Amino acid sequence: MASSFNFVIGSAKFIFAPIERCLNCKRNFDENMKVLQKLLKELNTVKEVIELRLSAEIHGGTMQTEEVKNWLDDVQRIKTEIEIIERKAKEKKFLSRVFLGKMVEEKVVELKAFLRKGKAFLGMVKSFKYIIVGGGVAAGYAAREFDRQGLKPGQLAIISKEAVAPYERPTLSKGYLNPNPKAAARLPEFHVCVGSGGDRLLPDWYKEKGIQLILGTEIVKVNLALKTLVSAAGEIFKFQTLIIATGSTVIRLTDFQVEGADAKNMFYLRELEDADKLVESIKMKKYGKAVIIGGGYIGLEVAAAMSINDFDVTMVYPDPWCMPRLFTPTMAAFYESYYENKGIKIIKGTVSVGFNANANGEVKGVKLKDGRVLEADIVVVGVGARPLTALFKGQLEEDKGGIKTDGFFKTSMPGVYAVGDVATFPIKLYNEMRRVEHVDHARKSAKHAVKAIKANETETTIHYHRSQNLGLTGSKMERLLELSLKVGHLKKTRLLQKFQDSILHLRT
Ligand code: FDA
Ligand code: NAD
Repeated sequence: MASSFNFVIGSAKFIFAPIERCLNCKRNFDENMKVLQKLLKELNTVKEVIELRLSAEIHGGTMQTEEVKNWLDDVQRIKTEIEIIERKAKEKKFLSRVFLGKMVEEKVVELKAFLRKGKAFLGMVKSFKYIIVGGGVAAGYAAREFDRQGLKPGQLAIISKEAVAPYERPTLSKGYLNPNPKAAARLPEFHVCVGSGGDRLLPDWYKEKGIQLILGTEIVKVNLALKTLVSAAGEIFKFQTLIIATGSTVIRLTDFQVEGADAKNMFYLRELEDADKLVESIKMKKYGKAVIIGGGYIGLEVAAAMSINDFDVTMVYPDPWCMPRLFTPTMAAFYESYYENKGIKIIKGTVSVGFNANANGEVKGVKLKDGRVLEADIVVVGVGARPLTALFKGQLEEDKGGIKTDGFFKTSMPGVYAVGDVATFPIKLYNEMRRVEHVDHARKSAKHAVKAIKANETETTIHYHRSQNLGLTGSKMERLLELSLKVGHLKKTRLLQKFQDSILHLRT
């Protein structure tokens, strides 16, 4: 009896074992295919990040090796092999799955090893919950707001091309150029947020808060869909939420191929490094001649500063009066005569078409379109700024030259915000989209964006940005300024007073 029972069991095992093996193979096949699909997705991401990093290596770098090239070539081979498996599995459903089971198992092992190799090429990827790209005014104020709203150590990184912690940029064309070494503004004095009467955030403040200040680091490639940034040195940064605060860069005369515009002692003023070079040159060329190209903010402020530094100053601009985007003719006339009374010469209605240099390559003359040539030991150019949006071209919606945002400074891509000079946002006061290049806007937009980010996380409500104080440059403001000028109450308007404070400190 027992032996016949054993015989039945044995026979059943004999018959069913292969069937069970087949069923296992099928089950494993389905599970392994799911793993394979997941790994394939990861492979695509790693491949894209490797390609992003490769494209960031403008002057060659560690990624341009035969090994990396072969790895990238192999990605296509692996993808094709997986596609074949998928096609076969669809053709003869049950049987092919049974026979393909082993192959899929092996592919999973191969792909895991292959991915490990790919990730090793990328080195360490630094991941943060929040990244601010750009380390200027807006970045500093955003950091303070993150801290106020609640931030855990290690959550926030600020990546800046500049080598110093965020500072109040306006100082560069004012206190920084003061000829009196004791009175001249120098860092760490004017780190944010002293410009608005707040605490000074020294580098140690960021350390204490666990905020990573990644300085001297330029981001050269961005893939917002992958939430990845690549620096010029090839470092890779991942974020969950990004704040774009790259600000503006100067418009250069070399952009228009103006002859001789790359001569020595020709300056632009945007970053601390520019200001240091100008200060150095002011010392070297004491009592020399300075030509200021441009009659806007930089032109007026630097002309005043050069005059205080005992330079013989001439301003050149194409417009019929200075600061045409803010001043009416009457207001401009007031400033122009004020400047002229201080000995500053003003040449209007023409532009520089070239520059002469001496044997050392130092600028010596400014050729004007009307034929005149002005002597110059130093030339400072302030012909406008342009927002630094190029990194995000094609990835974000733009408007009026800036990155388009809503009233919360949210861009067209979820989790990506833009603040300060780069943001084009709805200004309710004018009922239109505008970009504003003013420090007050940089501070306020940064604060507002951080509040919006935090509110989004906790699903609380904040008010749409009213933007009522941001960059009052419209006709209403002009009329207000003009009125205050007419009635002789210059001190009545805060904006005009601020502007006066910065330029009307010419020596009597
Ligand atoms: P901001 O220019 O301050 O910062 C941008 C930062 O991003 C810089 O540190 C830059 O290096 C960095 N960056 C850019 N691209 C990067 C990249 N790819 N990777 C890493 N980092 C990158 N306004 C006003 O209202 N009153 C005033 O008196 C003055 N005065 C004044 C003087 C001077 C000399 C200048 C140049 C400007 C002013 N302004 C001003 C304008 C004001 O300073 C400006 O509007 C704000 O600084 C804008 O702040 P952001 O943070 O947007 O850019
Ligand atoms: P701006 O736009 O204020 O002025 C540019 C000036 O250059 C204009 O007068 C324009 O007519 C002139 N110009 C243009 N092409 C010229 C040419 N080929 N030759 C001679 N002149 C030419 O720009 P800016 O003064 O360079 O300022 C740059 C940035 O710095 C802006 O974002 C500005 O807001 C900011 N800034 C602001 C302040 C302030 O608010 N007090 C102070 C300094 C700088």
